[in-house]
Amino acid sequence: MLNIVEEIIFNFSNNKSLYIGERLTISEHMIQTAMLAEKNKCSNDLICSSLLHDYGHFVLEYPNQLVSDHIDGNHETIGANYLKKYFDDLSEASKTSLKLQGGIMSDNETKQFEKNINYKNAIKLRRFDEGAKKQNIKIKDIKDYKELLVSKII
Ligand SMILES: [Fe+2]
Repeated sequence: MLNIVEEIIFNFSNNKSLYIGERLTISEHMIQTAMLAEKNKCSNDLICSSLLHDYGHFVLEYPNQLVSDHIDGNHETIGANYLKKYFDDLSEASKTSLKLQGGIMSDNETKQFEKNINYKNAIKLRRFDEGAKKQNIKIKDIKDYKELLVSKII
């Protein structure tokens, strides 16, 4: 079972694909997201979720193609209610993704979303996600999260 953690670390270290529509790699983006969760003193569950929230993109061969072709990569839509208020703060790539994922939630969809016991954490994660697109900042190494990955996955 330790192999899955080694595989995650390998993929983080070796995947150089840029995060969709942004100027940093998916690995850098996910590590920055986890660092924001840590900075906000979130639970280890949420830090680990933040670290792995875009891991599915590693299996997509051409992630940048999704935005340019306007295809939804079936990446889970989270926090759309949050985005309603903060839509203008989103990067252009995020605005495009949001439209592809169905756009801003209706009041009814919002009520459904709030029934999910994890919706508050989903909104927090989405906030960290949006803030984790900085270039040229010092970030942790994926190996710094090995212990956390082992504790949450194995
Ligand atoms: Fe993300």
